[in-house]
Amino acid sequence: MHRDVSELKAIQEHADIVEIISSYIPLESKGKNYFGVCPFHEDHSPSMSVSRSKGIYKCFSCGATGNVFKFVSDYENISFYEAVQKVANKIGMPFKGNVEIAKTPKKYQKEYEIMELSSLFFQNNLMTEEGSQAFSYLKDRGMDETVIEDFQIGLSLDKNSLHSFLNSKKYDISLLQSLGLVNQNEFSVYDTFVHRVMFPIHNLNGEVVGFTGRIYLPDSSPPKYMNSKETIIFKKGEILFNYHRARENIRMAKKLLIVEGNMDAIRMYSCGLKNVVALMGTSLTDFQIKEIKKLRVPVVLILDNDDAGLLATYQVGQLLFKEQIIVQVVRISGEKDPDDYILKHGIAAMENNVKNAISFLEFKLSYLKRNKNLQDSEELALYIKNILQEMAEESDDILKEVTLKKLSDDYGLSMEVLKQELLKFESSRESITLPSKEVVLEGKEKSNKYDFIASHILYFMMNDPVYIKMYKSKLGFLETSLYRGIANEIMAYYELHKTINLADFLTVAELSPLKNEIFQVVESIMDENMDETIMDEYIFSIKQIRRKNEIAKLKEKMRMELDPNKKLEYACRIQSLKKEV
Ligand code: UTP
Ligand code: MN
Repeated sequence: MHRDVSELKAIQEHADIVEIISSYIPLESKGKNYFGVCPFHEDHSPSMSVSRSKGIYKCFSCGATGNVFKFVSDYENISFYEAVQKVANKIGMPFKGNVEIAKTPKKYQKEYEIMELSSLFFQNNLMTEEGSQAFSYLKDRGMDETVIEDFQIGLSLDKNSLHSFLNSKKYDISLLQSLGLVNQNEFSVYDTFVHRVMFPIHNLNGEVVGFTGRIYLPDSSPPKYMNSKETIIFKKGEILFNYHRARENIRMAKKLLIVEGNMDAIRMYSCGLKNVVALMGTSLTDFQIKEIKKLRVPVVLILDNDDAGLLATYQVGQLLFKEQIIVQVVRISGEKDPDDYILKHGIAAMENNVKNAISFLEFKLSYLKRNKNLQDSEELALYIKNILQEMAEESDDILKEVTLKKLSDDYGLSMEVLKQELLKFESSRESITLPSKEVVLEGKEKSNKYDFIASHILYFMMNDPVYIKMYKSKLGFLETSLYRGIANEIMAYYELHKTINLADFLTVAELSPLKNEIFQVVESIMDENMDETIMDEYIFSIKQIRRKNEIAKLKEKMRMELDPNKKLEYACRIQSLKKEV
């Protein structure tokens, strides 16, 4: 991470974090810190602390932490780069942008330019004579001029129209082909999208990166929708349709609505439910989940009213739920999808559905019941076990209690038995999640304990060189490659700058490939007590876990060993390790 960040550091140091954050949320002075209501989660009490001397803020309720740039970028939903610019403006310091990040947005500039130009070309077509039929198709679907404008809806014409337009602008055919806009055979170059209503697809930053085109003429041949192929700038797994328009509304509504089809998102948005995005298929990638998690709001799944939509609700819900995102579900009935539903029943009915969305656990209760004959005792027992297993993952205790009560009432089972069984699943669950395959923790040593300690060690190191020295001399390494990677970034920073503090380190972390992981560590720390004795205790604990791990491995080897001498040797080593523990 040897980047020149001196310009960023200078701005960071000149900006008074208390003053800047005060321009967004009210802060009150208490002792040497300032406190305010955290804007990154639903809260009413002042759980966010801002330290002028350290240059950072930290919410002790949701964990949100960072320096002045991170606050501005998260609050305003702008990129890190834009946040730096904004802060620089606020304090009247020039920002020349002599940093690597300043150049990143310029990558693939030509590609973005072509996509934008194509989108404008399509939009213009819709407004011409040739667009009248497509225009009335949209009108018939209840999409007026405002919707067309908001969503930059356009029209593709015959098979040589976009190509000749872009050709006149002197773009390389091979570039147009690589963007999925034209195709080529031995005889000619021809447009990919022909006679379709065109919907541009934007990346999370709001740049046009692809298209989906729908047929609208009665005699058109399928497929109904045709999508851009994956290109260097169009990665379906990194897009959520309508995200860039919805982002601000998601923050305000403190809720994210997810639908299946682009048309559903367009309908919801244009009727006023603006905090909506559409899936790019029927699942979510790790990348998309991370982006959703960053929003720190509950998610409401409103997928299609068919078997595929039901299955997707379960699968997508599980993915989000595993990431500790609060998930709720709306199952529409009567109509095929949210678009049809709203056309038939009106937006108020949909708003009501959203308000009455059920918890994901409740959804699972009925989902897992499908195709089961609960009159049959064995099937019923299996179903109950299934549910309890799912409940073991749930962290909301009240929801658990309510669900147990419901199960108890519905099937005439005693609360005690249900609770006991649930406890079994809960404790077996805790011992199975390990930090990585590299470490096998024995018995009760839980991964969350390891994660807890490792995160604290890393956090300490980000705050003060003293802890970096202790790490180097007393511990040497951490077991998982992820934690080691973060430790290496911290040490590299220290080598370069000969000093370290959290606010500065986080500026550099923004540019690191481990950015998300670093922030995860920082945000997991909920108490600020730091001293060398505590660091020593953490180091000791890690070593302890290491020894226990070693003992477990030796025991296994001993068990498998046939040679009695070797068996004895293992036993001795185990004994001496046990003494150290
Ligand atoms: P649907 O067939 O449910 O489409 O497919 P829809 O969203 O209701 O569209 P309208 O209302 O008929 O215009 C759901 C999603 O599957 C994808 C699209 O993303 C669509 O939104 N799809 C569907 C395709 O990619 N290609 C197709 O041919 C059909
Ligand atoms: Mn539809």
